[in-house]
Amino acid sequence: MAHTPGVPALSVAEQAALTSGSDFWHTTPIESAGLPAITVTDGPHGVRLQASHDDVLTGQPATCFPPAVATGSTWDPDLLRRMGEALADECRAMDVAVLLGPGINLKRSPLGGRDFEYFSEDPVLTGILATEWVRGLQSRDVGASLKHFAVNSQETDRMRVSADVDERTLRELYLRAFQRVVTQAQPWTVMCAYNKINGVYASQNRWLLTEVLRGEWAYEGLVVSDWGAVGDRVAAVAAGLDLTMPGPADSGDHDLVAAVGDGRLDPELLQTAADRVSALIARSAVRQPGDYDAEAHHELAREIAGRAIVLLKNDGGLLPLAAGDGAQSIAVIGEFARTPRYQGGGSSLMTPTRLDDALTAITAATQATVSFSPGYLTGETAAEEGVAKPDEAAEDADLLAEAVALAQASDVALVFVGSLGETEGSDRTDIDLPAAHRELIERIAAANPRTVVVLSNGGVLATRPWEAGVPAILEGWLLGQAGGSAIADVLFGDVNPSGRLAETIPLKLSDHPSYLDFPGEHGHVRYGEGLYVGYRGFDAREQEVAYPFGFGLSYTTFEYGQATATVTADLGLEVRVPVTNAGDRDGREVVQVYLSLPGSAQQRAPRELKAFANVAIAAGQTVEVVLGIDRADLAYWETRLGRWVVEGGDYHCAVGASSRDLRTTAVVTVTGDHARVPLTADSTVAEWLADPRGAKVLTEAFAAASADGDTPPILGMMADPNLMEFIGSFPLGRMAAFGSGLTPDALQRLLAAAND
Ligand code: BGC
Repeated sequence: MAHTPGVPALSVAEQAALTSGSDFWHTTPIESAGLPAITVTDGPHGVRLQASHDDVLTGQPATCFPPAVATGSTWDPDLLRRMGEALADECRAMDVAVLLGPGINLKRSPLGGRDFEYFSEDPVLTGILATEWVRGLQSRDVGASLKHFAVNSQETDRMRVSADVDERTLRELYLRAFQRVVTQAQPWTVMCAYNKINGVYASQNRWLLTEVLRGEWAYEGLVVSDWGAVGDRVAAVAAGLDLTMPGPADSGDHDLVAAVGDGRLDPELLQTAADRVSALIARSAVRQPGDYDAEAHHELAREIAGRAIVLLKNDGGLLPLAAGDGAQSIAVIGEFARTPRYQGGGSSLMTPTRLDDALTAITAATQATVSFSPGYLTGETAAEEGVAKPDEAAEDADLLAEAVALAQASDVALVFVGSLGETEGSDRTDIDLPAAHRELIERIAAANPRTVVVLSNGGVLATRPWEAGVPAILEGWLLGQAGGSAIADVLFGDVNPSGRLAETIPLKLSDHPSYLDFPGEHGHVRYGEGLYVGYRGFDAREQEVAYPFGFGLSYTTFEYGQATATVTADLGLEVRVPVTNAGDRDGREVVQVYLSLPGSAQQRAPRELKAFANVAIAAGQTVEVVLGIDRADLAYWETRLGRWVVEGGDYHCAVGASSRDLRTTAVVTVTGDHARVPLTADSTVAEWLADPRGAKVLTEAFAAASADGDTPPILGMMADPNLMEFIGSFPLGRMAAFGSGLTPDALQRLLAAAND
């Protein structure tokens, strides 16, 4: 039996034991073979190392960096790499071999319960950011776990539901970011999802785990199950799953041994899985113990958070606020300013090393008089007040009146509101602010025309119902432990906002492309919008949105010159565009390139993000921004051939500041791949005639038949354009029924000649 050199030879029982955990967070040690246990832990936005044996859901203090909803909005791969490096240092300090992240499923619906843990509705943005996160982490000898592979874009029925997705959509959207990270960063582990994909559990999906992941993408690492995702250990190992977590999984181990014994499982498959676990252990042995500077990491968390905040609205240049000389009075309203919402619930919830709140940070940042009013009750404050349903944001007439009076008496009102209770395990049911928060905004905005709303939320919130009277809005997501300071940095202009939306904010939930098919029923969710996920769908239907994908304001303005595009030596594209900071403040612009192919023979979204660059541009300066697009990113999935194909033609590269603020377009001619779809008896007459070889073979055959004096009526029909409209859609094989003289033998000869 083949055995990987350099890894210990184990008995079948040892192999079975090695391929399941010994407890929640450790692999099984095999002392006789010199294989120690290694520690894996959540992840992804901080190290959540379980504090005590009984307490699965808390962790020792570690830096709580911003969750992916925020890092996705930075559109900055360098920041993600630095965050990965910092996380690795914390893992080294805590003896963690593998950090369970990043989560890179697409935000298919704004209701997705784990949208706060995912980057974007776009696979290119997701893939580029996650690749750098993984590179940063692994550059310091700590392994990543790319999750949840695949199509885990909802929490409803997540352990059973079948995500029913057509193959082109799977390949181009839901698998695309995984493919990018696997091929470019080789994460040490990939975590399979709980759900089924087209009827087959991810953990038992040989097509997914073996054919695609290892066969097509040349993945070299290990596949670990999501916690509790394996129902049938034998089927999982046969499909290509290596490590089942958590453990101990004694009965599963016995199943494996028995299946090898009675021939149901190829012993080589179990050995391969065990070899991969051994290889992971060997790889992690390189890791040196480390230490980290908690203060420096807090500062990094603050920098990332500041770069994640999206300035949605800033009428009349209300922001930034002047740090002032004491002349101003600022009303800080809303409990979230004092008690921040900074991460979501579930397996990623962690214990921060410290926690900044916006109220303290604002007070420290200004000489103005800062006064606070909580405005509403939260779960905790309501419980203290004895409110019956303390988990809901509760309106409180006295608090509301107090907040309104404070707003009236102040120069500026900052209103902190947001969503509640977002957690792994359940999806949201709406995208609305809690009623008490909305009421607060409306009353404060009416009382003070200089009102700034600061949002804290993991999934997008509808803004249109309440934003009319509000001049300025900061989208503050969930920003991690330093978010409070980061908000103050942006409010006072120490950070010029450069965050951009990684997902569309719709006018209302029912506009969303996923709306009619989320979250499915009776164990199935149909991905009915197909390729038209997120902005692709809004654009295809020419729908108005509240704020488009890629959008975000700055305290300065940027002007774009004419873009140019060329084909590179390796047949990708290079787009160049001069961008000028036309204001008087330094800033960062996120330059975005969207491609379209007018006249394409394939169904396509009107435009798709293919490249972006996050560039610092000093006031008054112009920078020539250069953006590369790999040829692989030009390809679509050709279902008839089962492979990626670049369609030739004139590609329009639209460059701008958001998906709906495109300032300049360059057109570039791309030579397509050779991709002939073979003709079959089922190909229509029109398809035969559209294919040069098919047309030649067909016309020659009918011409020869008519020279015999036996003119088949079809030849006359083909010459008549009106009749062709009528018969063009007939499969050639059916033409025999219409007196074409096409015998089965003749058809076979035509097929052979056409496809030769
Ligand atoms: C989650 C994973 C997590 C694992 C371990 C699962 O419930 O889906 O994201 O890494 O638990 O906590």
